Amino acid sequence: TGDILTDTFGRKHNYLRISLTERCNLRCTYCMPAEGIQLSPKDHIMTYEEIYTIAKEFVDRGVTKIRLTGGEPLVRKDAALIMEKLASLPVSLTLTTNGVIVDKFIDHFKKCGIKTLNVSLDSLNAQKNKDITRRSYFEKVYQNILLLVKEGFYVKVNCVLMKGFNDNEIIDFVTITKDLPIQVRFIEFMPFDGNRWNMDKLVSLEEVLSQVNSNFKAENIIKLKDAVNDTTKSYQIKNHKGTFAIISSVTNPFCDGCNRIRLTANGQIKNCLFSSKESDLLTPLREGKPIHTIIQQAIKSKLKIRNGMDTLDKFKESDAHLNNRSMITIGG
Ligand code: GTP
Ligand code: 5AD
Ligand code: SF4
Repeated sequence: TGDILTDTFGRKHNYLRISLTERCNLRCTYCMPAEGIQLSPKDHIMTYEEIYTIAKEFVDRGVTKIRLTGGEPLVRKDAALIMEKLASLPVSLTLTTNGVIVDKFIDHFKKCGIKTLNVSLDSLNAQKNKDITRRSYFEKVYQNILLLVKEGFYVKVNCVLMKGFNDNEIIDFVTITKDLPIQVRFIEFMPFDGNRWNMDKLVSLEEVLSQVNSNFKAENIIKLKDAVNDTTKSYQIKNHKGTFAIISSVTNPFCDGCNRIRLTANGQIKNCLFSSKESDLLTPLREGKPIHTIIQQAIKSKLKIRNGMDTLDKFKESDAHLNNRSMITIGG
């Protein structure tokens, strides 16, 4: 059964993203449709034991990094227990969160050896945050980011850019990295079911760099090195404590270095963020059947770039995202 996590392009999938829940305490417009989503029935959601069993199978096969996502991972009632259990595996454990309740988990993160967290924040303006999240938690989230930094965590702030909404805040976001040792990541808006994506709303990597170039002197803009598996192209302004980066899934995909495999809260494997075909692990697990053959098949059938949408034209014209889930049930 050997190396089941390497795909036909030689990419080794050692990074597992587990969505713990389809629920969230925010309602971000780019992540879910206004009317909400149909939640999976409770008995279709992986239990804490099932998550551990599946995660262990992946770790035994070569996974070294686990990221917990959602929905919002921390709203799951047994989130703390799950973190503790996964922390017992030989992996680097981390999570992507909206930051609203991270203050309640600080000691727990430390206990679980969590060193970095990715926190979503799309605007530095309270009203705009309310417009995008349909909830009023800007101050809370911003204070929680500062708290995480103070407590010694490395924080990456995820900012999804949307034309005419927050593209006028790019420089403000870069400016907060002067004194804050965080990484701000500007993310190209991507299409998922129910999020009304279109190319006109996209703020591209090129556009971010052009704004940065008009606001800072060329000799002060430093290109940093990225690891092969990174989603980011990262930069630093000279003498800033923090950095900024761009995640250009649409205009400059980074699939060559893809090492990610996703497990949804209802126990399905997605071999790509953009794949609509999923592989059910939960049913066979409950029937006491082996799951490694299914994992192997999912990895083997992974396509090279964006589930087949290899060019920008194909990506723009495809309506594959309508057959994909809403982001809230994928977890990024
Ligand atoms: P690190 O593990 O810190 O590198 O974080 P990450 O960028 O992998 O994950 P995060 O959950 O913070 O996601 C940030 C943005 O990157 C989100 O918009 C994700 O949808 C996107 N993203 C994460 N992984 C992938 C991926 O494999 N492919 C694509 N296209 N986008 C991804
Ligand atoms: N396009 C790009 N990024 C998105 N995220 C959620 N929806 C989208 C989208 N449509 C980001 C969130 C979160 C991360 C997991 O994914 O900002 O930080
Ligand atoms: Fe990997 Fe698919 Fe993301 Fe490309 S789009 S990096 S193949 S998950």
